[in-house]
Order: sequence, then C-alpha cells, then structure tokens
Amino acid sequence: MTIDLYRSVLRPLLFRLDAETAHHLGERALAAGFPWGLYGDRLFVPDPRLRVEVAGLSFANPVGLAPGFDKNARTIPALQQLGFGYVVVGGILPHPRPGNPRPRVLRYVEKESLINCYGLPSDGLEACAARLRRVRTDTTRVLANMDAFTVDEYVRSFETLQPLVDAMEVHTMCPNNRDDRGEFLRRGQFEQMLQAIAPRKRKPLFVKLLPWENETEHQERLGMVELGLHYGVDGYTIPGTWNLPEPRLSIGRGHISGRMAFPRTLEIVRELAEVTRGRAAIKALGGIASGEDAFQAIAAGATLVELLSAFVYEGWTVVRRINQELAALMAARGFPSVAALRGSAAGRQTADGRRQ
Ligand SMILES: Cc1cc2nc3c(=O)[nH]c(=O)nc-3n(C[C@H](O)[C@H](O)[C@H](O)COP(=O)(O)O)c2cc1C
Repeated sequence: MTIDLYRSVLRPLLFRLDAETAHHLGERALAAGFPWGLYGDRLFVPDPRLRVEVAGLSFANPVGLAPGFDKNARTIPALQQLGFGYVVVGGILPHPRPGNPRPRVLRYVEKESLINCYGLPSDGLEACAARLRRVRTDTTRVLANMDAFTVDEYVRSFETLQPLVDAMEVHTMCPNNRDDRGEFLRRGQFEQMLQAIAPRKRKPLFVKLLPWENETEHQERLGMVELGLHYGVDGYTIPGTWNLPEPRLSIGRGHISGRMAFPRTLEIVRELAEVTRGRAAIKALGGIASGEDAFQAIAAGATLVELLSAFVYEGWTVVRRINQELAALMAARGFPSVAALRGSAAGRQTADGRRQ
C-alpha cells in the first residue's frame, strides 16, 4: 500500500514537474517532518544477516543513500527513519557555491535513469557543519562526502566534519564542475591530500573516485586505489556512471545514473575487489534498485550498496524492499551474513572491510 502511495499518486505528480523542482519539494517534505514517524521502525528490516561492519563501524544493514540527494544536511533526521543503514550527505564544499545553471538534471523515465550536471552547488562547510551539529548518528549512520579545490581546504573540511559524523568520504571532484581541472584525480595531488588527511583520521575513511573514460584513466584509478591503502583508506566507491552529451542540459552534457549504470557498476566492483583483495571495503554504486542487485554486488565483492536514482523512482519504501529481498535471497542461498556473501561470486570470502 505504501509503495502504491508514492508510485501511483505522488510520483506522477512530482514527475510532471522538472526534476530539480521535484527534488526540492521532496527535500522540503522531508525537512518539514512529513509524518515519517508514523512508520515507527517499520521501514527497518531487523534481520541479523544484514548487519555489516566496516573498519570497526557497525551498520544495521548495507543499504545507503548516495551523496547528491541531501547535499546540505537538511533532511538527515527524516532520512534516518526510512530504513537506510547509512546516509551520505554532500558533496560539501568549503564555501557556498551555486553550481551550474538550470536545467541541470533530467529523467530518462523509461530507463529509470537520471542525467545531471549540477556542478556541485553547496551551502558551504559552515552551514552544513552547523546542521550536522544538531544530528544524532546512532541509528542510521551518517557519512559526510566532501570536495575541495586545495589540500588546505580538504584538511579544513575534514577537521570540521569528522567529529560530527560516523565516517568521512573524500570525493575527488565532480564530472560536471567547470571550476575543477581534475587535479585530485592525478596521483601526485591525490597523494598530497591523503598525506595531509591520514594523520588526522580518527574515523573510517572512504574515497569516492570518478569512473574512468579510457584505458589510461582506468589504470590511474586502480593505481590510486592501491596508493590509498597505504594511507589507511577503509573503503572505496567508483560508481558505474558515465558522461553523455545532452543538449537539454545547460552545459550540453551530464552524468548518467540509475538502471543504465548497473552492469558497469558490477564490473567495477569486481575490479575493485581484485585490487583491494579484502584490504578495504567497497561501496557498490550505480543503478542499484532491488535486493537481487544488492545480492549480486555483494557477491561480486561489495560490502555496502548505495543508491540515489532508485529513491527518486521508487520513493521511501525502496530501502525496506531491497533489504527484505536481500535477506530472503541470503536465507534461500544459505548465506548467514553479508561478510559470508561478500566476494562469493569470485570464489573468495574475505574479511569484511578490515585490513588484513
Ligand atoms: C541529481 C544528482 C546529484 C548528485 N550529486 C552528487 C554530489 O554532490 N556528490 C557526489 O559524490 N555524487 C553526486 N551524485 C552521484 C551519486 O552519488 C551517484 O554516484 C549516482 O547517482 C549513481 O547512483 P544511482 O544510480 O543509484 O543514482 C549525484 C547524482 C545525481 C543524480
């Protein structure tokens, strides 16, 4: 019945609006305390099989909300009632910035996908930190995803945000950001940033890297993953997304996400699993929309699975459905835990997210 409310009533109304306006309305409903509390804890799936641990941090389930939905930490208390194991807020930038002009996000409805060129709009570090100071992090875990233009800015954001959240995620910039020249996707600068952050690390540290567009970038990214391990990075995300020309967007192109991305997501998880060999967690991201997707991603080597587009397409009951389906699949196929399922498709069962 609750799935019907979103899919049959709210979604058709929201989808008549342009995607960014619909997103803002959704955010406002969440921030205004739409009566999510009426669900009590019914959106959570309390199955012990779903529990996960990464670098000493426990998660009630492996399904997280990807950065980009709550860019400015405005809706965390509501998001914490929807059954997520964790939510990633951000990308948080050191200073307020407007991002690219609109239109900067479109739906490809028949493919259950989105294309965006937001270009990292942000309320900035101070505003986001002020909101995070009021948030409790004990039910659904809260991760902060941050971007910056210089090593000093990365350090300042890291030191400000780390005490306020359960774990940090460093992002190496946005595919559609005109101010960014991709410095932190170069090995040298990436290493300088990690060198500065590593001694300050007190909580699990994730790194989100852009997917590669050619063989040179492919090798570079995998090299950066290996390098990060030396600096104590606990987990990686490389989404299965890519850039595409789209004349209806303000900058003429955007980044694809949603169902279209899932095949590539699986391939990337497999590659990351080969490089990391159980020494770091992997967050699968791109097109995850069902328990079967989550099962496949974890069997390929992921520890956590993250989504954004499926939340837009399916509404607030999507996490419960994914967790229910995932737990049922694990039970039917004899996997007692996410740790046991992890990497099983590759013939490996690795320790979960702990460096060996
Ligand atoms: C509208 C929109 C805004 C996004 N903003 C960010 C962002 O600020 N930082 C970031 O790291 N990723 C951002 N992303 C990328 C998502 O975190 C994720 O990598 C991508 O949507 C793939 O996941 P999905 O297929 O489940 O949507 C954004 C994606 C969308 C659709």
